[in-house]
Amino acid sequence: IPLAAVSAGCSSDVTGSVLKSKADVPDPFRVALTLPPVLKPVRRTDSADYYEITARAASVGILPNLRTPIWGYNGSFPGPTIVSRSGRRTVIRHTNRLPVPLVVHLHGGRTPPADDGYPLDLVIPEGGSAGGGPHAGHGDTSTGSREYDYPLEQRASTLWYHDHRMDFTGPQVWRGLAGFHLVHDDEEESLPLPSGDRDVPLMICDRSFDRDGSLMYPSVDDSLMGDHGVDNDYHEGVLGDVILVNGRPWPVMEVAAARYRLRLLNASNARRYELALDPAPDGPSFVQIGSDGGLLGAPRSLDTLPIAQSERYDVVVDFGKFKPGTTVDLVNRIDDGKLGKVMRFAVTETVRDESRIPDRLSDMSEFDALDPADAVATRKIAFGRGGKQNGHETWVINGKLFSPDFSVAEPKLGTSEIWEFNTDAHHPVHVHLVHFKILGRSGTGGPALLPTDGGWKDTVDLRGGENVRVLARFGPYKGKYVMHCHNLEHEDMAMMANFVVR
Ligand code: C2O
Ligand code: CU
Repeated sequence: IPLAAVSAGCSSDVTGSVLKSKADVPDPFRVALTLPPVLKPVRRTDSADYYEITARAASVGILPNLRTPIWGYNGSFPGPTIVSRSGRRTVIRHTNRLPVPLVVHLHGGRTPPADDGYPLDLVIPEGGSAGGGPHAGHGDTSTGSREYDYPLEQRASTLWYHDHRMDFTGPQVWRGLAGFHLVHDDEEESLPLPSGDRDVPLMICDRSFDRDGSLMYPSVDDSLMGDHGVDNDYHEGVLGDVILVNGRPWPVMEVAAARYRLRLLNASNARRYELALDPAPDGPSFVQIGSDGGLLGAPRSLDTLPIAQSERYDVVVDFGKFKPGTTVDLVNRIDDGKLGKVMRFAVTETVRDESRIPDRLSDMSEFDALDPADAVATRKIAFGRGGKQNGHETWVINGKLFSPDFSVAEPKLGTSEIWEFNTDAHHPVHVHLVHFKILGRSGTGGPALLPTDGGWKDTVDLRGGENVRVLARFGPYKGKYVMHCHNLEHEDMAMMANFVVR
């Protein structure tokens, strides 16, 4: 069993164990990029769009000449993209035709608690069971299907939906249960940013493949009945050795010599990336225009872009700086060899490009008004190693394993609080319901804020030895939510806690 933990310094270490593929894996840049299908609503009313999605087993082509069995929303990996309008309700009926329970979470959605995909609110398959385990019977269980009702009273942003079943999120997402959910609004659409087929969602994740093309995951079969979805040896995190973009291995996308808006999502279980362009253009490689919670106030030039699990960065790349016939690779500076490559852009032709990146992108008055002086509480929240539970290594928050009965904070509706996260290891911390402002980092001797820390965030990458202070206003709903590490194996190994908005 491979156990090498790869570590390359503080800002960029990758934690976890690489699972080596046994299949014939193609060389990078041999297959074309594809885009996930955009789902059509089954019904529209004046104020809402209704969708239906069935999670089911399917067999898809990922590697040349092999079929890969997956679990996919509507049988596809990534799942279909949902496109919503800010302020219009989106109602999605999720039907479960898998052999296991599922839970759907809209990551970045500002959703009432009953629709947020609490990890014990299972949708069990028709004729199936919710399984045992220490918290059996705790959630609000549905059978066959469940309707998730999203108000989407929120800004334009790149959201994503994925499985969130307690203890099994890692294996269930690995098998394919993840898709984009884009929210648009008038402000965003009034901007001259690249749009149409020059606005491209890119879901980056790593996977490993068995000789027959099937996905490998440690203990994936035990996940049908075991305590946790992952083998103990992988509790640091499961890393694959094939990089997929939109479900294709190291794909190539043909682009015109023009500006493109790339909506980057790191949907990997445990892998981080530090993205760069090779060759680098004259001038900045990326102009960041948005973050997890939508557009920034003003664009920001970047040459490299660190991206932790579940983070989204919205960037513009100007392929007009390259001559037709050139190829430009999106690379990952954390790794070498194939793992150092992500995808390739092949610049085809010169075109008219009327897009622009305006100096002022979005109204950030609410963000700017969020003032640490108004915070009614400051809470320390520590992400650490725990003891063993049923023979499994675990991870803890403030010394505690996840339990449906324990909450780490109980903020009052409408008030703001400072949460100070600290850790001795590397954890991408995600908070449901709210979007927050990163106030500062300390403890590593690095800068107080990273160039990519700006704007509304729902996930912050916490690095070993670091304290990160974030500020959020809690609302607009009361109720019980979770916050957790988005290394999915850490999450499954209990690195999750409730908070209750009162
Ligand atoms: Cu993307 Cu609680 O998850
Ligand atoms: Cu973690």
